[in-house]
Amino acid sequence: MITRRRLLQATPGLLLPPALTVLTSCGGSSPSDSGGTPGTGDCAAATPTATAASPRGLHVSWTDDPFTTRTVTWFTDGSDDPGTVIEYGPVEDGMSDCEIAQTAMPNRVEGSTKAVYDVDALTHSATISGLDEGKAVRYRVGSDAGWSDVRVLQPQPRDTFRFAHFGDHATSDASRAVLAGVQARAPDFVVIAGDLSYANGEQPVWDTYFDMLDPVASRLPVMTCPGNHENKDGDGDGYRSRVSQPGQGTYYSFDHGRVHFCFSTGGSLLTGVAGAPDLLAELAWLETDLAAAALRRANGEIDFIVFVQHYTIWTDSDGRDPANFTLVLLEEHLLVNYGVDLLAVGHDHIYERSQPMAYGQPLAGGYVQITQGGGGQSLYSLTEELGTWAAFATLRHGFTEYAVDATAIRGTTYSVENDAGELLPDGELQIIDQFEIPARSATDKATYAQRPKAIALNGFDYDAMILHTIERNRLHDLQEAGEH
Ligand SMILES: [Fe+2]
Ligand SMILES: [Fe+2]
Repeated sequence: MITRRRLLQATPGLLLPPALTVLTSCGGSSPSDSGGTPGTGDCAAATPTATAASPRGLHVSWTDDPFTTRTVTWFTDGSDDPGTVIEYGPVEDGMSDCEIAQTAMPNRVEGSTKAVYDVDALTHSATISGLDEGKAVRYRVGSDAGWSDVRVLQPQPRDTFRFAHFGDHATSDASRAVLAGVQARAPDFVVIAGDLSYANGEQPVWDTYFDMLDPVASRLPVMTCPGNHENKDGDGDGYRSRVSQPGQGTYYSFDHGRVHFCFSTGGSLLTGVAGAPDLLAELAWLETDLAAAALRRANGEIDFIVFVQHYTIWTDSDGRDPANFTLVLLEEHLLVNYGVDLLAVGHDHIYERSQPMAYGQPLAGGYVQITQGGGGQSLYSLTEELGTWAAFATLRHGFTEYAVDATAIRGTTYSVENDAGELLPDGELQIIDQFEIPARSATDKATYAQRPKAIALNGFDYDAMILHTIERNRLHDLQEAGEH
């Protein structure tokens, strides 16, 4: 068990572009001890003294409906549980920042607490439900032993929305620049496709990571999947003990508006054959989840299917061929059979966009793979010649933003660096790629509405797939240990 040595150190400040403003701490009474009197203080800064019970590392996700619920997760130091409470209320029209920060919260919900893996700290999480879909919500978390600042969550739009995607984040200057860029764009939510903190066994790095994430993640929902580096912390327990995600936690799905999102581990948490049943259960779940989504798309209930995982299916990152052909083939079978529109991945620290493709070849109507491994960890190199399936590849840190409506997913990839590879000022971005994934025709949607196959009838050698996956993970760990 590691004691958090940096206990109560000030979090390094992140510059916040105006898109996501931080409310000024107001003078006067706090929302709860004022007994409900709206604040009219002078908004003079009043930072409370941090204690072990002070909430830190706030990050928002949803574990249930994205439109009417939000789950907030945070940490306190030590093993004494100070309580797990979210106080919240609507942001009424015309409320000033000061009123948002000071006005008493009409609602309160309690949550649960668990130990952080291998650190003397607690993870708290609680879920707000019954949100008014069209209204922003203000909230703070903690207990009477210590509260966070008041933060604001914007409502999730249903018909058109934007989400940002990157993987391989780390805690570098580029990692912070990517967050500042996301803040500047203020999408509706963020997808981090694995390899989050690169703690690599040093658990306090996760605390640094969530301190860095807090200004964005306490205001924008962040949905994640594990990568191979998450497996280095107690076979994924470091990750599991710190995030709150839907369903199984490491793999899950949800609908956001008319898009179905399916998040997979891609086998990233598999280290030995003892974990094989988990991966097989996940693959069986993926089959039924994607089959149901394809049927719902054919029936007009949704427009797109997006699949997120850490590992690439195909890559032009030099020396990083999948080395796991059975799992790749099996996963690609699912993507192609059920007409997945977009595959959003990381792992290879490059940016690469594929043409619509299948089985390593361009194919009209195939899936589009976006490898956005430029979240902040050091970049790799590209093969001399790109695959015939590739549309564009480059080596830049940044993120990809997708704007979704009923007709298309329109992607824009932003770099946080200039052409010379120098970091731009926080919040300044350079567009390096733009693309469009149109909605499929009704005829095509009907083609992909198929019955799920029983996993045992797929004709794959599952024992070989498990062994390949273990070997892939081991080889990639060895390679990355040498590089970082
Ligand atoms: Fe990775
Ligand atoms: Fe990585």
